[in-house]
Amino acid sequence: MAVKSLKIITIVGARPQFIKAASVSRAFACEEGVDEILVHTGQHYDENMSAIFFRELDITEPVYNLALGGGSHGQMTGRMLEGLEAIYMKEKPDAVLVYGDTNSTLAGALAAVKLHIPIIHVEAGLRSFNRKMPEEINRILSDQLSDLLFCPTRESVKNLKTEGVTDGVHHVGDVMYDATLHAIERTKNNSNILEKYSLADKPYAFCTLHRAENTDDPERLASLLDFLEQEAKTRQIVFSVHPRTRKHLQECGFSPSGINMIDPVGYFELHTLLSHCDLVITDSGGVQKEAYFHRTPCITMRDETEWVETIQTGWNRLWTMPDWVGSRDQIPDYGNGDAAHIIVKIILDRFRS
Ligand code: UD1
Ligand code: UDP
Repeated sequence: MAVKSLKIITIVGARPQFIKAASVSRAFACEEGVDEILVHTGQHYDENMSAIFFRELDITEPVYNLALGGGSHGQMTGRMLEGLEAIYMKEKPDAVLVYGDTNSTLAGALAAVKLHIPIIHVEAGLRSFNRKMPEEINRILSDQLSDLLFCPTRESVKNLKTEGVTDGVHHVGDVMYDATLHAIERTKNNSNILEKYSLADKPYAFCTLHRAENTDDPERLASLLDFLEQEAKTRQIVFSVHPRTRKHLQECGFSPSGINMIDPVGYFELHTLLSHCDLVITDSGGVQKEAYFHRTPCITMRDETEWVETIQTGWNRLWTMPDWVGSRDQIPDYGNGDAAHIIVKIILDRFRS
């Protein structure tokens, strides 16, 4: 008997979403009768913030690219809503799939719910409990609108329950872990990058910073840089500088001393750098967990984190904490590297039954 065909529109726009979608799209490709239409909102557009991930992770070219990067939150989200609505009306998908917590996530979900299209949210239920973060608003609203909610951790399931969201909720593990295993397999024996940055055999910390709450306030940015300069006295620091951060550093005239500032690196270079460093310093959601995936301690440059299990197990600490807590235990929540396959199976069961 022929399988019922299924048309899914996947929305991506920002760097972390290309990586998450790569794992799930790979799992979709193993299934018969699934027509996945990839839509890029264009939120991230530089070569090393977008195209490089498509190339490295073998992601098929987006069918639509709205090229809507830049502008304020309202402008960006509004323009995305208009563009996505037109695509949904033309394509008439069975469901829309959104990832994470960016403006592209919210626009993707909001445009779908108004047209009564079911929404699937991968990386649901994370909360920082800080409503000043744009991501927190995007998450709360996207979760409220979604029909299938795929949670990476037990804590995220609990957060949804507290908000009264229980239908369609599944703890499946973290697709970023799937992606990391894929990258490790593809980057075996690739240490050219260490020579490129003169890092071979030298202890170093790998750093990223890009959160609006860290970059947009010059006083806060200055105190984060002070912290980095202190760390730089004990080991080298390689700092992959996000375009948002580059812009604010330039505007403030800041050039921290003793820190090797590099352009954002591709996904494979990132994993090589993470696998050889002895400390990670970051405000990125993804990089906090990738530090754990490589069993490297992490200092998170934020006042809270959604990934509380990394703190509880002693792999991560906030920069405001004097020390690590816990005994560096394994974190079972993130799964076995098959989260994407579990997600696809649940989607097929739901939409084909
Ligand atoms: C966005 C997400 C954030 C996510 C991050 C991943 C929202 C609200 N924020 O933050 O949750 O952690 O992506 O990296 O959706 N820019 C470029 N080139 C690019 C991309 C951005 O120059 O390819 C510059 C532009 O000046 C742009 C600024 O960076 O205005 C900020 O980009 P934006 O997408 O608004 O937010 P991010 O800080 O990247
Ligand atoms: N990343 C990368 N190169 C870099 C910095 C980050 O490939 O120079 C990858 C890394 O895998 C990370 C992902 O991009 O998990 C998303 O990171 P980002 O910090 O942009 O977003 P967040 O996870 O905070 O939303």
